[in-house]
Amino acid sequence: MAKTTKDWKTRLIHSDAHVPEGFRSLSTPVYRASTVLFPQASAATDQWNQHVVGYTYGLYGTPTTLELAAKVCELEKGFRTIITPGGQAAISLIHLALLKSGDHVLLPESIYGPNRNFANDVLRRFGVEVSYYPPDAGATISSLFRENTRLVWCESPGSITMEVQDVPAIVEAAHRRGVLAVLDNTWSAGIYFDAFAHGIDVTMQALTKYVGGHSDLLLGSVTARDPAIFERLGQTHQWLGCAASPDDCSLALRGMKTLAVRLKAVEQSALELARWLQERPEIELVLHPALPSCPGHQLWQRDFTGATGLFSIVFRQGFSKEQVLAFVDALQLFAVGYSWGGVTSLAMAYDLHSPKRPAYQHRIVRLYVGLESTDDLKADLAQALASLG
Ligand SMILES: Cc1ncc(COP(=O)(O)O)c(C=O)c1O
Repeated sequence: MAKTTKDWKTRLIHSDAHVPEGFRSLSTPVYRASTVLFPQASAATDQWNQHVVGYTYGLYGTPTTLELAAKVCELEKGFRTIITPGGQAAISLIHLALLKSGDHVLLPESIYGPNRNFANDVLRRFGVEVSYYPPDAGATISSLFRENTRLVWCESPGSITMEVQDVPAIVEAAHRRGVLAVLDNTWSAGIYFDAFAHGIDVTMQALTKYVGGHSDLLLGSVTARDPAIFERLGQTHQWLGCAASPDDCSLALRGMKTLAVRLKAVEQSALELARWLQERPEIELVLHPALPSCPGHQLWQRDFTGATGLFSIVFRQGFSKEQVLAFVDALQLFAVGYSWGGVTSLAMAYDLHSPKRPAYQHRIVRLYVGLESTDDLKADLAQALASLG
């Protein structure tokens, strides 16, 4: 069709307008797309693996999504990474891709709560056997493997109670039985624990936390070191249709550029506050992997190259639930809210009653240390503790 014959309504969609070429900047463009164009009819294909077939459909990734995936993969030293719309989506993708009816999966008692809920509800409903092991199991986990065990999860340190696991021992026992080992590596931001060097087969992270870094997005990653496992994960990701937003991926790419300085800052500040809290008469235990009072501290020393900003404190026996909640409410700089890894410090009280978890009950509070001045945070903790009388 000749240009001049185009109606203005057609020009809105098929424009001949031009902008100068050759633009370069330091930021990754946000490529939003459902439809991806093919050069000709015979080139059209609906396959998901864009590294093999090129770009075919927005659901399987645009250059923005795939750049984030490639950079996470580079940091974790895997084969390939899949980006999901949140950490929980990464967890469910792993379960659904690698398990089938009749299989058995093992999870540590300290696993992130919604991971446990997914296993107990969805997996059991689809005929998967689910059981739990003590986070300090190490090599003794081998006695818990069944004929049909396919997957063992690790999360180190564990959610809230912060037990550092003997991942290499668990991996060795798993591999002897042909069982795959998966790690939720969110606490270490995929940086301070080299999962694949310690034998893990598949890692996931909630990029929502440290990579995002500003509490304004939800994203997850799943990284495999074996091409066949990546294939299984990618194919399931296609059928589940859980694509991540390129806008969020571009924020995560920006967050990633400052990850090193943010991690260093929260590590130093959290460690100073954890050591200070350890000396306080109200506190019985500080569950920070870099302190000897944390279960598995020696394993952290052996296997990790750093610590991040999340740890828990346990009040002494005798402190009531009301007092612990009053402490959290008295904090002025630590906000109350889920999801950590941003710039703002957070506090959350828990009430653990499972006989399989340590008997901290209502006395445990998880702290996330953000980027505020350490002295101000210390003063805030001091005034909140003093308010308990
Ligand atoms: C250890 C851990 N894994 C996974 C998740 C889930 O991440 P998201 O909130 O992005 O779904 C969280 C979130 O709190 C977490 O703490």
